[in-house]
Amino acid sequence: MSERPLEPSPSNPLASLDEWEEFLQDRYPEPNEKSSFRDYGTNVRPGVREFYRLNHRHQSLEFVQAKKRQYLGKCQRKMGIWEAMEFLNTLVDDSDPDTSLTQIEHLMQTAQAIRADGHPRWFILTGLVHDLGKVLCLFGEPQWAVVGDTFPVGCRYSDKVVFPEFFRENPDWSVPEYQTDYGIYEPGCGLDCVQMSWGHDEYLYQVVKDHLPEEGLAMIRYHSFYAAHREGAYTHLMNRDDERRMEWARAFNPYDLYSKGHEPPDVLALRPYYEDLIAEFFPAKLAW
Ligand SMILES: [Fe+2]
Repeated sequence: MSERPLEPSPSNPLASLDEWEEFLQDRYPEPNEKSSFRDYGTNVRPGVREFYRLNHRHQSLEFVQAKKRQYLGKCQRKMGIWEAMEFLNTLVDDSDPDTSLTQIEHLMQTAQAIRADGHPRWFILTGLVHDLGKVLCLFGEPQWAVVGDTFPVGCRYSDKVVFPEFFRENPDWSVPEYQTDYGIYEPGCGLDCVQMSWGHDEYLYQVVKDHLPEEGLAMIRYHSFYAAHREGAYTHLMNRDDERRMEWARAFNPYDLYSKGHEPPDVLALRPYYEDLIAEFFPAKLAW
């Protein structure tokens, strides 16, 4: 039986996908703000904790490979970018209808903040599209297979990944080959060779990879890889290209975390600008 993606349930413990992103803001507050995130062992909402428990328990190498087989043939739908934004918008967060912004408003806030800082057009567009992989929820995926911090599978888990203790419940924990520093990988092999936990980052990267410059693609593919871009872990698997990719992910991160305020952008007024920007880089339809 499929459950509504945003209705709390045993397999979807978050009140909304935004709850994960609020947790990220607590962990990584703006430089001039004091962290309210002291001890996630006790301070974290039970739903968030349970969400990570499920994520770390189920994101095994075999699970990741199965999801890639399921989705990377891109046979779900044909949609343009704006159409995908409207589709994602059907993910209504009814936990707090008065204050919650729609998904399109969130995406536009990110893009508008990048635009306000005078960045190139591909960067603005990256901000607009970066979370569209969350449509996985609408294809029936549980929250823990769509959002959450991402991490490499098939090698030892870093204790820089949030809630590392929950990895003990992952079937890969008891596979000795996967629990060495390099696991199934070679030293410095590069993240292109590394299987990351499955979610909206990798999925969207695969959908848009022919249409954006590599800087934007790195921002999309690794924006939830906090253990690497914020904590400096997993450098032993990276190559020179990845060091640059992490820099781009770091450049993007403040717009992802801190641009989502409570004032909704004027979607109707901004739409023509963004339709032009989308048409500059993307074909009318993409395979999802
Ligand atoms: Fe995201």
